[in-house]
Amino acid sequence: MTMISRLAFIGLVFWLGSLVALPSHAAADREKLLKDPGVYATFVVFKMDEDWWKLDKAAKVSAAAEVRAAFQKHSDNVITDTYLLRGLVEKADFFVRVHSSEILSNQNFLIDLMGTTLGKHLVNTYTFNGLSKQANYVPSLPDDLKTAMKTPTDAGPKPYAIVVPIRKDAAWWITGQDGRNTMMTEHVAATTAYLKTVKRKLYHSSGLDDLDFITYFETAKLDDFNDLVIALERVEENRHNAQFGSPTLLGTIRPLDEILEILSR
Ligand code: HEM
Repeated sequence: MTMISRLAFIGLVFWLGSLVALPSHAAADREKLLKDPGVYATFVVFKMDEDWWKLDKAAKVSAAAEVRAAFQKHSDNVITDTYLLRGLVEKADFFVRVHSSEILSNQNFLIDLMGTTLGKHLVNTYTFNGLSKQANYVPSLPDDLKTAMKTPTDAGPKPYAIVVPIRKDAAWWITGQDGRNTMMTEHVAATTAYLKTVKRKLYHSSGLDDLDFITYFETAKLDDFNDLVIALERVEENRHNAQFGSPTLLGTIRPLDEILEILSR
């Protein structure tokens, strides 16, 4: 190989290398943060103040662009999901579900969001904090229920999200593991008819909030969800729910851009 062809070859290797080089920052791993235990979630619920609606369209559109930039800035550390509540929930227009491996990252994102022009018009009506954990009761379920719990939800869009905060009573926590296993087996047995239409995620909040659990659901069939909750209200474990909802949030899962467009009208 002549000197010139050797230099050309080295140049080619560097050029090819630059084509496959990873970006200097990588977006947070969405699948992992939604699946793993030990992930922190903050549910932050907002209502626009009265002054927001008096702004002209151009001011709203420019404020919306700032919000998009705040979401983008933190996308290395947090994953976000956005939900429209306006029209369905009295004291709220939308909420954001934020996940990260450090609750500090959730806070840093929310500080920036609240510091935007739009953020200054946000009334923060509720905030719930929780974390994902390994299952406590599933390992003790009878085999048929254990198998049933592996049923995947049907494919297809699930446009609705429901959030129900829950606090248990003292009697629940001082009941031994065996007693709670029995009650949770009954809880799980009441849910099997809904495994295909209701997707769920559980967050533990004791000590991080005034709650014990944040329960989160996605479905296309709100009638199924209604039947499911009635079925669960009939089991013994329900006697230990000192708080169920208050508030219950019912919203539609929508991309940030769609929510910003609705708020900018
Ligand atoms: C398809 C529907 C549902 C299924 C399949 C289901 C299943 C389960 C399972 C398997 C657990 C035990 C998790 C563990 O091992 O730690 C659990 C816990 C729990 N579920 Fe459900 N559930 C459903 C719906 C609901 C609903 C509608 C609510 C209330 C709104 C609810 C509230 C809870 C709570 C608060 C716990 C935690 C109990 C504790 O750890 O003390 N679940 N559920």
